Amino acid sequence: MSLTITPLPGCGAEIGGVDLGAPMSDEDFAAIRKAYADHGVIFFRDQEITEEEHIAFARRWAPININRFLGAHERYPEIAVLRKEADQTENIGGAWHTDQSYDHAPAMGSILVARELPPEGGNTLFASMYKAYDALSPAMKEKLAPLKAIHSAKRIFGKAALYNKERGDRIGNEDVAEQLEDSVHPVVITHPLSGKKALFVNIAYTTQIIGWSEAETSAFVAEMFVHATQPEFVYEFEWRPGSIAFWDNRSTWHYAKNDYQGHRREMHRITLEGVPLSA
Ligand code: SIN
Repeated sequence: MSLTITPLPGCGAEIGGVDLGAPMSDEDFAAIRKAYADHGVIFFRDQEITEEEHIAFARRWAPININRFLGAHERYPEIAVLRKEADQTENIGGAWHTDQSYDHAPAMGSILVARELPPEGGNTLFASMYKAYDALSPAMKEKLAPLKAIHSAKRIFGKAALYNKERGDRIGNEDVAEQLEDSVHPVVITHPLSGKKALFVNIAYTTQIIGWSEAETSAFVAEMFVHATQPEFVYEFEWRPGSIAFWDNRSTWHYAKNDYQGHRREMHRITLEGVPLSA
């Protein structure tokens, strides 16, 4: 099998000619790593990997982050289970966000394996924060360059968070969210793998641009939300049995569509530790 890398419209690339459950040469690993850094999210089809193989593949990239808020796999704490039962109405991740930007070293990325899919629907959208940044006007780039923002877990996972309540026993640890110290990151980061600039604010966790009022922050985050989710920067990934998505949390946002009421969907996610980010 020889490796293929096919860039996709909007965001990401599809990788073919590789079995993620089998030993991988250093050469293929390096090519996949470069595609990941350059495209922000990479997709694989027709993979039949066990939980152990999922964990082994993840460990080759970075240490695994054990999720503090999502339910874990009963035998593998490294795997967060994102599940929606047929009789549940709310899904997990059903709004644009990037995972764990509230941490001082935001997660590098996540490897999501489809375990049970609805007959139709349940796609995931990805938006490129490289493209969102590149498309800003020179004046806006200059304005954003020195800015820093506070990111907090409380709005989504804290005691007052509706999100938390509506998802019942699939999400927990609101005390941990309350005690977690908020983090500060540049509004525009230099991506630690690619060296490219990316917009690093998101509507889920960015609570304050430092030096700006709450109203100015909300207006700015809303403006960036509209800007960054233009169709030109977005790819909608249609899951099939055996599909895997591996996204970078620093250069993409994602959004799990909740358009499959009455059906079950179960995904296994492993999140990888990241590094502190700089401008
Ligand atoms: C997420 O990690 O936010 C959910 C992605 C998905 O279930 O498609």
